[in-house]
Amino acid sequence: MINLGIIGTNWISGQFVEAALSTGEYELTAVYSRKLATAQAFGEPFGEVEYATDLHTFFGIQHMDTVYIASPNSLHFGHAKEAILAGKNVIVEKPAFSTPEEMDEIISLANEQHVFFFEAARNFHEKGFQKVRDLLPLKNEILGASFTYMKYSSRYDQVLDGGEPNIFSPHFSGGALMDLGVYLVYTAVAWFGMPNEVHYFARKVSTGVDGLGWGILRYDLFDVTIQPGKIGDSYATSEVYFDKGTLVLNGVNAIEDVVYHDRNLKQREKIEIHPAENPMAEEALNFAKVISHPTDSKYGILYEEWVELARNVNQVIYDLRKSAGIIFDADSK
Ligand SMILES: NC(=O)c1ccc[n+]([C@@H]2O[C@H](COP(=O)([O-])OP(=O)(O)OC[C@H]3O[C@@H](n4cnc5c(N)ncnc54)[C@H](OP(=O)(O)O)[C@@H]3O)[C@@H](O)[C@H]2O)c1
Repeated sequence: MINLGIIGTNWISGQFVEAALSTGEYELTAVYSRKLATAQAFGEPFGEVEYATDLHTFFGIQHMDTVYIASPNSLHFGHAKEAILAGKNVIVEKPAFSTPEEMDEIISLANEQHVFFFEAARNFHEKGFQKVRDLLPLKNEILGASFTYMKYSSRYDQVLDGGEPNIFSPHFSGGALMDLGVYLVYTAVAWFGMPNEVHYFARKVSTGVDGLGWGILRYDLFDVTIQPGKIGDSYATSEVYFDKGTLVLNGVNAIEDVVYHDRNLKQREKIEIHPAENPMAEEALNFAKVISHPTDSKYGILYEEWVELARNVNQVIYDLRKSAGIIFDADSK
């Protein structure tokens, strides 16, 4: 059984804990919050849980072996580093880190300490995502792709009122590319590999981060466009274009509906996708398999693939962000 500790008590941590418990592989062992009452309110429905309001005490909980980190983006690095130094595996919410330097340091440290680092990129771990990835080579030459994820954030109301909520703050490594674009970049890099060149054209909000933007990832033979946004809504599908047809997806952040339109046969082929009830259950199960079988090379190979993917996605996001002149506090550390 994996003994799980939690940093960050917003709704996403609740969803992850429920997903983790539903796999039968985890127990909730400890909750950290800046306020005891918040930690208790979070942990109470899950039975016997230890609470901590300082990180030293939290990481000192011996029987907690794995920490899920869902703090604001810029705090992930410090939290992950301390957890790893205390000998814990870390599951870090997307986007795991702000810069390639942070990513490299955590990967090296996790290797040195013989613990696992996972980026909680839930879309990548969905079976539907893998099913589409396996299908792509069968559909012949890729001509390009277009991925969109734009959803109005109620926290943008605070920006309009002159505020700076974490998710729109450069101090906390916020913005549309970091928050939603990460799913699109994960898809591009997992399905097509590393692009040769990237460009991002951002519409910045008053805090200095991107409210929405358009990105281009250039490959040898095709381009992929990405469109993340948090200040408006998109109802567009995501698409992959082939010389003989088009794959149309409801989106790539949570794949539910996929149809292949074959131009020559003039027919539509529906690809069966069965999304999990809790969208975080598949990643929680995947991480558990690796943690529980540390010497099994089958899982070791998968783990190495995920780590390299996390590293590559981080690099692409960083390059996109730099091309748009979006600067975070984390850049000058
Ligand atoms: N996978 C997904 O589907 C998904 C969905 C949503 C979010 N996320 C990711 O989850 C992470 C958290 O996102 P969020 O929107 O929940 O962030 P958030 O509300 O800004 O903060 C999350 C938690 O961190 C703590 N916190 C907030 N501000 C802090 C500060 N200034 N200093 C120290 N701790 C602070 C709070 O916990 P305490 O008050 O208990 O300390 C809070 O509940 C992000 O990395 C985000 O990308 C993932």
